[in-house]
Amino acid sequence: MNKIIKQLVCDIHKLGIMPGDTLLVHSSLRSLGWVDVGAETVIRALIEALPNGTLLMPALSWKLVSKDNPRFSAKNTPSCVGAIPEVFRKHPGVIRSVHPTHSVCAYGVNAEQITFRHYLDRTPVGENSPFRLLTEYKGKILMLGCGLKPNTFMHGVEEAANIPYVLENEATKVSIEDNDGNTEDIFHYRHDFKGIRQRYDRVSECVNVNKGKILNADVLILDACSLWDAAAKKLSEDPWFFVDRESLKEQYLRNPCGALATAFWKEHWFPKPKGINIFLESALSKEDEPDGTRYFRLIHHMEECPEAVLPNGYVFRNVAMPDEAGFVADFINRCYEGYNQTKEKILQWSEYPVFSNDLWVFVWDELRKAPSALGIADYDEALGEGSLEWIQTLPDYRGKGFGEAIVRELLSRLNKRAAFVTVSGEVDNASNPEGLYRKCGFTGDDIWVVTQTPVNIISSNPE
Ligand SMILES: CC(C)(COP(=O)(O)OP(=O)(O)OC[C@H]1O[C@@H](n2cnc3c(N)ncnc32)[C@H](O)[C@@H]1OP(=O)(O)O)[C@@H](O)C(=O)NCCC(=O)NCCS
Repeated sequence: MNKIIKQLVCDIHKLGIMPGDTLLVHSSLRSLGWVDVGAETVIRALIEALPNGTLLMPALSWKLVSKDNPRFSAKNTPSCVGAIPEVFRKHPGVIRSVHPTHSVCAYGVNAEQITFRHYLDRTPVGENSPFRLLTEYKGKILMLGCGLKPNTFMHGVEEAANIPYVLENEATKVSIEDNDGNTEDIFHYRHDFKGIRQRYDRVSECVNVNKGKILNADVLILDACSLWDAAAKKLSEDPWFFVDRESLKEQYLRNPCGALATAFWKEHWFPKPKGINIFLESALSKEDEPDGTRYFRLIHHMEECPEAVLPNGYVFRNVAMPDEAGFVADFINRCYEGYNQTKEKILQWSEYPVFSNDLWVFVWDELRKAPSALGIADYDEALGEGSLEWIQTLPDYRGKGFGEAIVRELLSRLNKRAAFVTVSGEVDNASNPEGLYRKCGFTGDDIWVVTQTPVNIISSNPE
């Protein structure tokens, strides 16, 4: 045994880990400091430290096996939880359990027994998961330099307690290839932690956590049975104990177009009218196609905002508010069929805190001394969000680039202050504003449905 492995084995045994233990290891290679030969050295030491035991590591693949890529191969799908588990997965004699998103690799005395039933599960950490079977083997969990948060065992406790936030409501079809190359299509329920932050560090508030060192790394050791009992008891008292719920603002900043159907500031100013349902199309069940209006919602990340170009004889000119409120109402009404905006309504818009006069812009026809297009945008300083609110060109001027010019002008005016800009509009608008916005650099694929029909939601906030 070389010197570094000896040192590692000695450190591991000092932590109270016995040669016959069943040990699940979550790890961060970096935390150990420089280790000669890297992950392989750590794995060899862990195996040496458990001559009559079993070593387990997560081989999670949920990042790679997704709705867009619903395929898992026990042999070939890489794990997504760091260097040590990925090297362990390929180590001679290691067995990988067959599970699309939360497989486990095992080596040692009980490796076969603890992994072989996993293919039966249809949820991330179900009753046949090696994470859950750890308690049957009176196992231990070693958190090697990674703190208490990435503790997959806790998902098993959550699933067993039927915690509402854990699973998606609708199963995903996944093709599974086992270690012998046999394939099968299964329906699998994925985790649904959207809008939720895991706080498994809170296990230290309800169970004994032993602390120690392996080389430079701070390590924590948990007894699986004690952890299961204590965490299950906590969850029965408070189902939200091991998570924090993201505020709407945090959710919005992470994914503006998928979190709300309108700019964030409107959420507070315009409560949803009674009887109206507003949902992301992807959150509706497949059978449910309610009658309603579909709205695209797009985002511009302000990476590139090329300058607007106007033909000769046209200039941009700021709307003079409040004096031109009636003029604006009249202009908008000439651009949309059946609209009846009033001067009072326009004045009201200019009183919202997101009003900024330089974001109300006409394209001005100098010859006719009249506007050909108008753009109105808002800027929410608290969030750093710009939003295009009213973009229109008079019918006689359409198809000549004025729409594009006004959008680009607003983007370049917002570029100095906004972190991002959003825009929405009807998908079925015959004048195709969606195409115009995409041409100007907006992206996204979120569709919101506004309906008066009751709908069947499968996920409140889909990925
Ligand atoms: C949507 C709207 C603002 C577009 O204004 P516009 O001035 O016609 O916009 P543009 O001229 O820049 O672009 C429109 C089309 O003309 C084309 N175009 C632009 N310059 C052109 C030119 N010189 N020659 C020929 N075609 C041209 C564009 O490629 C675009 O085609 P596409 O829709 O197939 O991509 C306008 O149709 C409108 O006011 N609609 C009613 C109000 C509305 O629905 N607003 C959007 C609310 S979200």
